[in-house]
Amino acid sequence: MASYVDEIKRRRTFAIISHPDAGKTTLTEKLLLYGGAISLAGSVKGKKTAKHAVSDWMEIEKQRGISVTSSVMQFNYQGFCINILDTPGHEDFSEDTYRTLMAADSAVMVIDASKGVEKQTRKLFKVCTLRNIPIFTFINKMDREARDPFDLMEEIEKELGIQTFPMNWPIGSGKEFKGVYDRNKKEIIAFKANNGQHEVEATKVDITDERLNTLIGEDHRSTLEDDILLLDGAGYEFDLEAVRSGKLSPVFFGSALTNFGVEPFLEEFLNMTTSPLPRDSDIGLIDPFDKEFSAFVFKIQANMNKAHRDRIAFMRICSGKFDRSLEVYHMQGGKKMKLLQPQQLMAQDREVIDEAYAGDIIGVFDPGIFSIGDTLCSSSKKFLFGGIPTFAPEHFSRVQQVDTMKRKQFVKGMTQIAQEGAIQIFQELGGGMEEVIVGVVGTLQFDVLEYRLKNEYNVDIRMEGLPYQYIRWIENSDLDLKTLNLTSDTKRIQDLRGHHLLIFANEWSIRWAQEHNEGLVLAEFGRS
Ligand code: G4P
Repeated sequence: MASYVDEIKRRRTFAIISHPDAGKTTLTEKLLLYGGAISLAGSVKGKKTAKHAVSDWMEIEKQRGISVTSSVMQFNYQGFCINILDTPGHEDFSEDTYRTLMAADSAVMVIDASKGVEKQTRKLFKVCTLRNIPIFTFINKMDREARDPFDLMEEIEKELGIQTFPMNWPIGSGKEFKGVYDRNKKEIIAFKANNGQHEVEATKVDITDERLNTLIGEDHRSTLEDDILLLDGAGYEFDLEAVRSGKLSPVFFGSALTNFGVEPFLEEFLNMTTSPLPRDSDIGLIDPFDKEFSAFVFKIQANMNKAHRDRIAFMRICSGKFDRSLEVYHMQGGKKMKLLQPQQLMAQDREVIDEAYAGDIIGVFDPGIFSIGDTLCSSSKKFLFGGIPTFAPEHFSRVQQVDTMKRKQFVKGMTQIAQEGAIQIFQELGGGMEEVIVGVVGTLQFDVLEYRLKNEYNVDIRMEGLPYQYIRWIENSDLDLKTLNLTSDTKRIQDLRGHHLLIFANEWSIRWAQEHNEGLVLAEFGRS
């Protein structure tokens, strides 16, 4: 039997990020197919059913059973044990999307070759860089008309501020897509178009092979030769250390739909990524190979069963081995406990598990005691993990209860939902809880709030959208907010812990605040 150290060594835990429609689901599915975790394409998630109207929120939550199970997928491939963390797309976009990235050791960024860097990629990328995790780029849909690959590289470097190293290089695109050139092996993997757009045949040919002219045509060959010269001469050097510290992103071109370039990508990716990385804590870095179990909570899923307000807490194991008999210490609660009903997720199935290792994600029954960012460890070695930042909401509403007699339930519901991390609550300076400002990352969170207050707390609310889009935490502790010189559309607010913040209608107002208030320090992420 493998030792716990071997088990940890073979783990790879990564998140897939992309703007909606770039091909994240398709790529994930192909990766799962390689691992034998699923046998049929199209089974990752009922994507069409996920397109919901607001009124079906209950339905969404029922489906959450599906979307939660498919949000972490584990499979084995060539001796590796791979955990893929899915980051929810447009409709479900919320702070959970960001928090999931806190549980990953690396990220795969899928980019649509005809579109390049898009809004959501940019946001998710920013969160990845908070932790300097390695970022691998898969430029997808090469079987469709694509933008010039040099332009795409330049855009990634400029917009995201990361160096790139193309591992392979495309030969044409769309109808003229002939395949990719593998820079390391110096061979062409030729793409043979077929109309069905299912799997494609890939032929490997050495760059010096005479058959190349017939295979890709003389024009493509000569363009490729020029491109290679340019890449070798003017591009960045490959540097594994730079990859592992998130400074250099290896780039792969391919087509997930036709399954072209996916397996070579997976193989290279597994060679370049590391087993679970040490995590920062208040007693220094925690080694994943440490025998003592430790984990932190990064996501809480409320159960929609009204009768039992139970929840599932998802945690990332950071060191050691977990088994069901293990007694753990919940730092924030100051209590020893056993983790109940531990579950792991395997493609569509949720299974109760007996053991798990550093790098794995487990969901446990939460009777309402866990909060996002909580640490669990063994009682012989107590410490706190660094916590999870508060991410900047981008939508704001003023929220009031309709019936003032229901004040108590309103306050209770609002605070509990905020504790779960489903919304962020702010107040007017010196204001109370009778009227609050709610900030969210994705607008679905407003619908969730309204639905849950009504169904779980029996409170109707009135919501009024506010015209703010940006929030900044004020880092200066000794500042009199009244003296700040701000534009008229900037608002001063506070969070429940009394931290002061500013909300802005546009970026221009943020610049104004910075230019007209010397020494003002604004942060984009809040400390938890
Ligand atoms: P997402 O999870 O990032 O939102 O994207 P998803 O994989 O669902 O892909 C979005 C659309 O792009 C899908 O088409 C999918 O089939 C297509 N697609 C993904 N990868 C490729 C590729 O390499 N080449 C081409 N040509 N298309 C690709 P759809 O019509 O919106 O959905 P569906 O009806 O195919 O499910």
